[in-house]
Amino acid sequence: MTTTPLPVSLRATLPGNFYTDPRIFAAEQEKVFESLWFCVVRSADLAQPGDFQTVQVGRESVLIARGRDGVLRAFLNICRHRGARICTQESGAVKRSFQCPYHAWTYGLDGRLVAAPNLTGMPDIDRREFGLRPVQTYEWLGYLWVCLAPAPPSFSETVIDAVTARLGSADVVASYRMDRLALGQRIRYDVRANWKLIVENFMECYHCATIHPELTEVLPEFANGYAAQSYVGHGAEFGPEVDGFTVDGSPGFGVLEGVARAQDRRYYAATVRPQVFLNLVPDHVILHRMFPLAVDRTAVECDWLFAADVVASGVDVSRSVELFHRVNEQDFAACERCQPGMSSRAYAAGGVLVPTEHHIAEFHEWIRGLV
Ligand code: FES
Ligand code: FE
Repeated sequence: MTTTPLPVSLRATLPGNFYTDPRIFAAEQEKVFESLWFCVVRSADLAQPGDFQTVQVGRESVLIARGRDGVLRAFLNICRHRGARICTQESGAVKRSFQCPYHAWTYGLDGRLVAAPNLTGMPDIDRREFGLRPVQTYEWLGYLWVCLAPAPPSFSETVIDAVTARLGSADVVASYRMDRLALGQRIRYDVRANWKLIVENFMECYHCATIHPELTEVLPEFANGYAAQSYVGHGAEFGPEVDGFTVDGSPGFGVLEGVARAQDRRYYAATVRPQVFLNLVPDHVILHRMFPLAVDRTAVECDWLFAADVVASGVDVSRSVELFHRVNEQDFAACERCQPGMSSRAYAAGGVLVPTEHHIAEFHEWIRGLV
């Protein structure tokens, strides 16, 4: 079979089956989500000892809990006795332990087996040995990442350096002091699309002029299909009449403490592989965490973070939130529009990337290299 070579302006995408084949999704669960660092929770959401959340990471349920010593820990949410799921709630608080609902093995917040019926009759059991299986953790930007791999890759090389490479300097993201910000709003989106369609969409702005009227008002350079993700260190500048990163360009909440002058009228974005998007604007930060649930379904949790005093004051942040909420809805609708096309015979060999999307080919190569 001969194939016509593509014009130099175009590059090939992944073929359609990468977005529809459950075997490829299973390989991604194993090689991507269960092998790399995966952002699970915002640390401050588990503020008190005993606070916990359960999060799906690849095929595993992970239980995250704050210990009595204040440390956040993560465990596989599976009882060491006969494998029952310990915790079925998404979030909550316990006093000092988790009890398996099946035969009542009980684990401390540090994962240690602390009690079980007739345990005293089994003096040879080392309680540490039969504790919950721990999962590696790393806290950064006020969020907790976990890695299920037995020998996790270096967090700084695979996560921090990638953000630094995109933003040009480690100081840019650090200057927003994200771990001190407070949650102003969280919206969870149930997107009927493969997670890679969402990543690709976030990586290009060829679509901005078509589907993001409010965003291109605030960031006029986006109207030219400018790829915010492809130029190292570049932040998109607000339009001359724009006072803030809000749905109508009205003023936001000033500039976050620490944010440099050069950044105070700019929007920066970074894709943190595999499942985080970071958006930095002068007065707030928007962070997306994706939770791929099936080959054609992805939950996206989006946090809007503001200065702690802004959130504490109870001031209305809805004009700030509304801008990116609309962007999210516009983007996710576009991804959902593409998902059925991925199984069409018209897309069996994939589609094409125009020059402002060429950098997406590197993402495709990265996926091909892993699965
Ligand atoms: Fe958990 Fe038996 S399976 S106590
Ligand atoms: Fe978009």
